[in-house]
Amino acid sequence: MPDQPDYATLEEAAEAAQHCTRCDLYCHATQTVWGEGSPDARLMIVGEQPGDQEDLQGRPFVGPAGDILAEAMERAGLPREKVWMTNAVKHFKFTVKTTARGGKRRLHQNPDRPEIDACHWWLGIEQRFIQPKLTLALGGTAAYALTGRKEGITKRRGKVEETETGSVLLSWHPSYILRVPNRGAADRARAQLLDDLKLAAELVA
Ligand code: URA
Repeated sequence: MPDQPDYATLEEAAEAAQHCTRCDLYCHATQTVWGEGSPDARLMIVGEQPGDQEDLQGRPFVGPAGDILAEAMERAGLPREKVWMTNAVKHFKFTVKTTARGGKRRLHQNPDRPEIDACHWWLGIEQRFIQPKLTLALGGTAAYALTGRKEGITKRRGKVEETETGSVLLSWHPSYILRVPNRGAADRARAQLLDDLKLAAELVA
């Protein structure tokens, strides 16, 4: 692979990404999950990595976390087809767990820094083609991939950070809302995600 990408179109880059071996995640994932939406989008939304459903369907945010995001986007007046939705890491990272009944479940694992850095190649290509006015980073992995800063997002969410490649607004990852054990905290995080999406809609209007 060359040091500098020279794809003529986003579609060409998407096709090349299907053959990516920049880190080892391709060995077990079903496919590369490239971004989707409008190539003219003013807003790009970046998650962590595809989950089980995304890996099988080859589309970002189509599983349970995607449902939470879709509901908040609808309430914020952000139609999916007008946004570019993608992930910091484009292959599903998981471990396989055998269930009590002998079935198999694929359990999400967090990508590590070298994997995020390796996949930054593709995120940078998406940014260059889409040229969004604003990028919304969902969760710590996307925040790190887009800003290079390693601090968690608890104190950073709801704010816009300026980077060499543009403005980045930080928010919770929708999976966090699914994982929080306490109902009150989950409701608060859901409301904050909605606030951040509304702010994003305002900033790109
Ligand atoms: N979580 C993500 O970060 N991205 C997806 O596409 C799905 C779940």
